[in-house]
Amino acid sequence: MGKRIYNFNAGPAALPLPVLEEIQAEFVDYKGSGMSVTELSHRSKWFDDIINEAVERTRRLLNLDDHFDVLFIQGGASLQFCMVPMNLALEGKPVAYLNTGSWSTKAIKEAQIQGKEVNVVASSEDKDFSYIPKGFQVSQNAAYLHFTSNNTIKGTQWAEFPKAGDVPLISDMSSDIMSRPFDVKPFGLVYAGAQKNIGPSGTALAILRKDMLDRVPDGLPSMLKYSTYVEKNSLYNTPSCFVIYAIGLVLKWLEETIGGLEKMEQINREKAGTLYDYIDQTDFYRGTAEKESRSLMNVTFRLPSEELEAEFVAQALKEGMGGLKGHRSVGGCRASIYNATGMDAVKSLVDFMKEFENKEG
Ligand SMILES: Cc1ncc(COP(=O)(O)O)c(C=O)c1O
Repeated sequence: MGKRIYNFNAGPAALPLPVLEEIQAEFVDYKGSGMSVTELSHRSKWFDDIINEAVERTRRLLNLDDHFDVLFIQGGASLQFCMVPMNLALEGKPVAYLNTGSWSTKAIKEAQIQGKEVNVVASSEDKDFSYIPKGFQVSQNAAYLHFTSNNTIKGTQWAEFPKAGDVPLISDMSSDIMSRPFDVKPFGLVYAGAQKNIGPSGTALAILRKDMLDRVPDGLPSMLKYSTYVEKNSLYNTPSCFVIYAIGLVLKWLEETIGGLEKMEQINREKAGTLYDYIDQTDFYRGTAEKESRSLMNVTFRLPSEELEAEFVAQALKEGMGGLKGHRSVGGCRASIYNATGMDAVKSLVDFMKEFENKEG
């Protein structure tokens, strides 16, 4: 095997090594089928088992009861920005959004394109999306309240989810799904592009509360309706077979190796704590998110100059640590420490940060 780096990519991102090895071991002949998982029919018993297992593991990890359906929908989280208002808005009611960064802004834009009455309940744009808003009121007339649980680019995260009374919550959890347990009851829909915490790119995981189906308007194109995916167990057309298979293995790793989402959260807190503790000790590195809004998944920071940032990213890569450049829209540095990036990677990064500071600070 070639040398693997410590991977701090924001997405697609690191996958657990045991999962990659399992894929490799059975890649050419999937469970005695004589075929690769990429060659199996999506109508075969093998694939039925694969998708059902991924659904069941999602249900167990998130404690979902029968009120929820688990769906796999192509088009990533970005297609969900469009499907949410298309399927779940209600005639004569506004749709409510919390704006905490560019992904929320994109979700809002898709509702506006469709001519929905969009009510932006709170926004952190006034301070460059460096914090999570507080103290806002959600009108009980809203059809839903949409928020981004973790802001991948700015490195902020909802430590506690917003409260909206009887208004169903809808959340884009692309960058923190399965990183911590949460109570799914207030949610009408949770969705996540797979490529950060649960698998390779190519599908979104969607968790839909059944009563939301009453809202789906007749006359929508089949592929854009949640009901199509519910009725056909996400097999109306050919799904992203390989991705769903890999998601199943990542969820197995979460259940059987990590031991569930409480454990995962504990590990994630330790990892993020180690990194933030170091950042707070020095003046050389400066965290960009307000302390109480900091993300456990994406740690964003600046160095004293852009030249030093470029040098930092380049030298880190030479030392076997990749993906530390901030998003192209904001610059700076970002260490994405999703579930599969372990404490060993974080410790190695902190050691490197110290060395770099000693040399350049
Ligand atoms: C929070 C969040 N939402 C949405 C997206 C877009 O996802 P996709 O590329 O699957 O459309 C991303 C990043 O890719 C993200 O981090």
